[in-house]
Amino acid sequence: MATPSSNQVTAKAHTNIALVKYWGKKDEDLIIPQTGSLSLTLDHFYTETTVSFSKGLKTDTIKIDNQLVNQKNWQKIHSFLNIVRKKAHINLPAEVSSFNHVPYAAGLASSASAFAALAAASSRAAGLSLNKKQLSQLARRGSGSACRSIFGGFVEWIAGQDDESSYAMPLKSDLINDIRIVALTIKTSPKKFSSRKAMRLSVQTSPYYKSWIQLVKHDLAAVKITLLNNDFSTLGHISELNAMRMHALTMSSDPSILYFNEATLRIINSVKQLREKGIECYYTIDAGPNVKIICKEKNVSIISKYFEKIFDKNRVIVAKPGSGVTYE
Ligand code: PMV
Repeated sequence: MATPSSNQVTAKAHTNIALVKYWGKKDEDLIIPQTGSLSLTLDHFYTETTVSFSKGLKTDTIKIDNQLVNQKNWQKIHSFLNIVRKKAHINLPAEVSSFNHVPYAAGLASSASAFAALAAASSRAAGLSLNKKQLSQLARRGSGSACRSIFGGFVEWIAGQDDESSYAMPLKSDLINDIRIVALTIKTSPKKFSSRKAMRLSVQTSPYYKSWIQLVKHDLAAVKITLLNNDFSTLGHISELNAMRMHALTMSSDPSILYFNEATLRIINSVKQLREKGIECYYTIDAGPNVKIICKEKNVSIISKYFEKIFDKNRVIVAKPGSGVTYE
């Protein structure tokens, strides 16, 4: 049994953008995905979370950006903390305070950085000393994509088939020095279909879901080769195609879900036009209308300026590869 009160621990984790997407679970409770996925951790967007366990509390007290969370979020975080308590053999309530460092109007608040930081801070505060692989297994239980945010740079999530075999690991590539993401943040209002609900719907109703499983196997293998060969063009091409194929799953679900809006389509066309002009860039889109443009450092300025003319300046955010989880 642990001591009645624990140390206060603060951890910081960055968000990540998937280049080969995770879309669908094999196990809803353990969050075991149907396929592997591959991402890039970004420096610009992060969450800092402080956790302590204390006998002086009646129940878990959870604040995000200094506000007590609503019942739905409380339940989600409380369930996650129960996993940590079980592992650490304690039953003390926790005090959690989390800050999302996401630029104004970015609309990029991410469960990935949130659960990666929570996994790191809560496990250490509970007296556990987990290595990064174990931390990724734990973060996965909060939100699938969070397992990838434990590591910096390019990261692969090995799908696995149970709690032990489903985890993330970093991948080395010199492309890390040159790759940049220009995030275009169009909309901030909460989405109607959470990724959790939408991916369940895709698994159950999209006639193309079986093909997606095969496609991802191919895309993962191909992207890993591009990382070894520093082949930015093929990496961009596959990432763009993979994102569109993920959206084809949501569109072909019943009911059909469309995350794009007019601005999303406008940006897609602009990226194609920029490419025709010889400015190499590719787009990727998650479960929302915002678009992230994948490019090289040398083209960041021209791409940002191009979109700053169309959207507000504060909606164009340049991100570099970010580091893995750290403690303060
Ligand atoms: O981890 P979740 O439940 O937030 O789902 C993430 C889904 C995508 O962002 C669309 C894809 C991915 O691999 O991150």
